Amino acid sequence: MRVVLGVGGGIAAYKSALLLRLFTEAGHSVQVIPTEASTRFVGIATWEALSGHPVSTSVFDAVDTVNHVRLGHEADLIVVAPATADLLARAAAGLASDLLTNTLLMARGPVFFAPAMHTEMWNHPATQANVATLRARGAIVMEPASGRLTGKDSGPGRLPEPEDIFAAALAAAAEAGADKADQAAAPYSGRLAGKTVTVTAGGTREPLDPVRFLGNRSSGKQGAAIAEAALAAGAQVRLIAAHMEVPVPAGVELVQVETALELRKAVHAAAASTDVLVMAAAVADFRPGENAETKIKKRDDGADPVITLVRNPDILQETVQRRAESGTGPALIVGFAAETGDGSASVLEYGRRKLERKGCDLLVLNQVGRSLVFGQDTTEVRILSPLDGPGTEPAAVAGSKAEIARHILDRIAEELDAALPSV
Ligand code: CTP
Repeated sequence: MRVVLGVGGGIAAYKSALLLRLFTEAGHSVQVIPTEASTRFVGIATWEALSGHPVSTSVFDAVDTVNHVRLGHEADLIVVAPATADLLARAAAGLASDLLTNTLLMARGPVFFAPAMHTEMWNHPATQANVATLRARGAIVMEPASGRLTGKDSGPGRLPEPEDIFAAALAAAAEAGADKADQAAAPYSGRLAGKTVTVTAGGTREPLDPVRFLGNRSSGKQGAAIAEAALAAGAQVRLIAAHMEVPVPAGVELVQVETALELRKAVHAAAASTDVLVMAAAVADFRPGENAETKIKKRDDGADPVITLVRNPDILQETVQRRAESGTGPALIVGFAAETGDGSASVLEYGRRKLERKGCDLLVLNQVGRSLVFGQDTTEVRILSPLDGPGTEPAAVAGSKAEIARHILDRIAEELDAALPSV
C-alpha cells in the first residue's frame, strides 16, 4: 500500500516515528508529510532517513511533480498522527494552507486521524464539531487515549499507542478496499468539489398519441449510479432524467424530461454551466412523425395504421459541435455506446467508430448481447478516448453499476486534473 503519514505539530510527533516503522516493516511505502509546526518537534531529516523518501511541508517544493495533487491521489491510505486541534479544524474547514491539507483534499482512499491534545482542547465544542464534520464525511477519527499528557495533567487527549493506530488504520484500509461499492457511495474525497456534473439518464418516450409512446428498455440504473458517484466525489450534480425505473438519488438537481427533443433542450440549457456532461440516457433515434392529438382508434374499414418515423437529432454529437463552434460548453463530454459486434466489425471497432463520429472526449463502451445490459446490476465496460494510441486496447472493467460508476468518475477526475495548468 502507498501510505501518507501526516504529522501534526504536537509533542507526540516523536511517536509517529514508531508508527512509520510499523508501516515500512510491514512492507508499505510511506510518504511522510509533516506540518511546518511539527518540524519543531521532529525534523525533516528524521522523516527522510526513516521513510527513504524526500519530505516537504510545502506545496512549493517539487512543483514539477504537482505534489499537492499527486500525493493525495496516489495514496491508498492517509494516516494523520498526531492530529492536533488545529489540524482537525483545518481539515474540517477544507483549508489548503500547506502540503498536508492539500493532500487531504485530494484524498481518494480512507483518511484516518489519531488525535492528540490537552483534554480541554479535545472536549471543546469547536473540536468536537470538527470531529463530527470529518466523521460525517467518511473520515475515521480515533478516540484519543486517556492518560498522562504533556504537562502534569492527565485525561483523554493522549495519542493512542503506535501499535493501536497501526492496527486500526490497517483495518480501516481493509474495510474500504473490501467494499468498493460502499467506497463509491461515501469516499472521503473532494476530488470533484467545485465542479458541476450533468448526467442524462433513463430512456426517452416518444408519443404517438395521448396514451401511447415508443420507448426503450433503459432502466436509468447506470445514470443514477453515476450521479451518486459524482455526488460522493463532491460535485454539484444535475440529473436530466427521462423515464427511470430506479429512484432519483437524493441531492441532485432534477430536470425531468420525456422526449428526445425535451432532453435536447435541457442539455443545451445546461451545457454552458456544467464542467462535465455524461450522456448515459438512451435517447430514441426516431420519433413518430406525428403525435396525434386524440387517441388513434381502430378503423372501421380494417386498415392498419401506418406510423412514419422521423430522425431525432443526435444530442451528443450536436453538443460537441456547439462547443467547437462557440468555444464554450462542458470541459469534458462523455458518451455511451452499447454494441454487440458482428461479422464485419468487433465491439471495439464499432466503439472506436462511434467515438470518432460523435467526437466526444470519452466513450464508455458496453458490450451487449447474450448477457443483456438493460436493467441488470452488473456490467462490463471499456473507456475509449480519442487520445488512445493506435492498436491500444483499453482494459475492460467489470462490476456492479456502482463500481463502474466510480471507475468512470475516477477517469473523469483524472481527465479534468490533466487539463489543469500544472501548478
Ligand atoms: N445519443 C444522443 N442522441 C441520440 C442518440 C444517442 O445524444 N439521438 C447519445 C447517447 O446518450 C449515448 C450515445 O449517443 O451517449 C450513443 O448512443 P447509441 O444509441 O449507441 O448511438 P447511435 O448514434 O444511436 O448509434 P447506432 O447507430 O449504434 O444506433
